[in-house]
Amino acid sequence: MGSVLVLNGPNLNLLGRREPATYGSITLADIETRLRAEARELGLSIDCFQSNHEGVLVDRVQGAADDGTALLIMNPAAFTHTSVALRDAVLGVSIPLIEVHLSNVHRREPFRAHSYFSDIALGTIVGLGAIGYSLALRAAA
Ligand code: DQA
Repeated sequence: MGSVLVLNGPNLNLLGRREPATYGSITLADIETRLRAEARELGLSIDCFQSNHEGVLVDRVQGAADDGTALLIMNPAAFTHTSVALRDAVLGVSIPLIEVHLSNVHRREPFRAHSYFSDIALGTIVGLGAIGYSLALRAAA
């Protein structure tokens, strides 16, 4: 079975101290540790990657075309609402995508309601906090 690539976008490295009322108190390291354990239980291999830089994320998505990645789980963070480049990268590698957001983007500022990824994703999980990544991993399995 191919592996799952979990991608996180800008400012998600600050989870735990970033607007905890919105994003919770769990850190990204904690989320990734949990996902690695869950992937082991599900018999999936997994790689986790975070960057604050759009081009670095584009490069990592392009790399997924050649490293056996079968599915992307991505929280593009602010790039959700801005990045045609990252959308084009996902389309360019033809790897299925599950889009995850910790907060319910539809209950927040109007600019967060539009995503450049939802219409090209297999599915989208929003507003359930960190468990959303685990649910996406179960769906991947
Ligand atoms: C987010 C929602 C985005 O609007 C925001 O820019 C983020 C995080 C979420 O997980 O809820 O950085 O993707």
